[in-house]
Amino acid sequence: MNEKKNDEIKLTIPNKPEYVSVVRLTVSSIANRMGFDVEQIEDIKIATAEACTNAITHGKCDVEESFDIKFIIDEGKLVISVFDNGKGCMINNIKKPDLINPKEGGLGIFIIKSLMDDVKITSDADKGTTIIMTKYVGEDT
Ligand SMILES: Nc1ncnc2c1ncn2[C@@H]1O[C@H](COP(=O)(O)OP(=O)(O)O)[C@@H](O)[C@H]1O
Ligand SMILES: [Mg+2]
Repeated sequence: MNEKKNDEIKLTIPNKPEYVSVVRLTVSSIANRMGFDVEQIEDIKIATAEACTNAITHGKCDVEESFDIKFIIDEGKLVISVFDNGKGCMINNIKKPDLINPKEGGLGIFIIKSLMDDVKITSDADKGTTIIMTKYVGEDT
């Protein structure tokens, strides 16, 4: 009954690459306040920027459009959701990158999964793509 509600911060960002740095600064400040260490903050910034870049470049690739980010400040964890209402993709068909013979690109989701503790991606041709990434404070992965 008396459950404490988590703090939430929501942003709507124009579909323009120059705004990714605004998100990086925002998430850095949120993570810093929550007590993440410098390395974890760096990981969170990289993962968040990759998710935003995907929303911009693969979602609705129209500069007149925008995408949304939600930060949930939970006890001991930060949950970051990036939503676009773009064209979506066959998320289950995305292959792991070949790290022996690396190609340019195709690393974003792999990087996000290696830097964050929990990652869920859903994609739908009508509704676009949502990526939900969780990082636990003080948990070194
Ligand atoms: N928000 C998105 N909307 C639509 N497709 C996406 C989205 N994010 C990722 N994808 C698909 O997943 C693929 C892999 O993404 P990623 O690992 O970041 O590599 P890259 O962005 O370099 O292609 C993309 O090429 C794209 O087809
Ligand atoms: Mg990418």
